[in-house]
Amino acid sequence: MQNTIIVGASSGIGKELAKILARHGYNVGLAARRVELLQEIARDIHTKTFVKVIDVSQPIEAMQSLRELIADMNNDVDLFVISSGTGFNNPKLEWGPESETIAVNVSGFTAMANVAAEHLQARGSGQLVGISSIAALRGNREAPAYGASKAFMSNYLQGLRHKFAKLRLPISVTDVQPGFVDTAMAKAEHKFWVASPEKAAKQIFEAIRKRKKQVYVTRRWRIIAWLIKVLPDWLVHRI
Ligand SMILES: NC(=O)c1ccc[n+]([C@@H]2O[C@H](COP(=O)([O-])OP(=O)(O)OC[C@H]3O[C@@H](n4cnc5c(N)ncnc54)[C@H](OP(=O)(O)O)[C@@H]3O)[C@@H](O)[C@H]2O)c1
Repeated sequence: MQNTIIVGASSGIGKELAKILARHGYNVGLAARRVELLQEIARDIHTKTFVKVIDVSQPIEAMQSLRELIADMNNDVDLFVISSGTGFNNPKLEWGPESETIAVNVSGFTAMANVAAEHLQARGSGQLVGISSIAALRGNREAPAYGASKAFMSNYLQGLRHKFAKLRLPISVTDVQPGFVDTAMAKAEHKFWVASPEKAAKQIFEAIRKRKKQVYVTRRWRIIAWLIKVLPDWLVHRI
């Protein structure tokens, strides 16, 4: 029986991934702030579940709580998924939303990734998955902190991948970059190719199974990713 921990499991992509992983036999550690939602998900899962309240915007406490959750799961977790995230359209660059985005997506993510990396390195194998975004690929005028925070995440995951490769440890690191997924996080005014959280989670599960380094979700978002990378700035300013 394998053990997984999902940070940001109370809704959306994290919730659907928890259900898929449980269906494939994983015991699941569910972490986020909304404990009633976590308990509800736990009730629907037939493998063993472990619920832990974690607020990643309080990184010191969050790191301690994640270590406790790992201990609850027999100190043996194969797979960590960090799906927690926040984001705001913030054209006026108000400090509140910018600061919250950095606290959750940068500091909070790093705190969770550090504890996961420490555990995986000590056990000598496993997998770390981060749910970044296609927004990581280019600065975003409506939500600059969100795009920048996701670029940080993707780059950090790449750093960890290089670290484990250098150590010659069979620990894979997967950077998931979704386009639009139909959850509370999809806040853009003009949305297209919006995937259901179930479909997104299914494709993420396939990427986990194949131990991919990076994946766009859904798959056709690789076309948009290519465009985002090649379009010149002057054209982006006009769109
Ligand atoms: N939906 C999209 O279109 C889209 C596109 C690209 C990338 N993503 C990324 O996908 C990830 C999952 O988002 P989603 O679409 O599934 O939206 P969601 O349903 O809003 O899920 C966000 C998750 O993050 C958790 N979270 C937020 N703040 C937290 C905090 N301070 N501490 C702990 N957990 C926290 C939430 O749990 P609590 O509120 O219970 O704490 C929730 O479980 C995010 O990282 C997001 O940036 C989403």
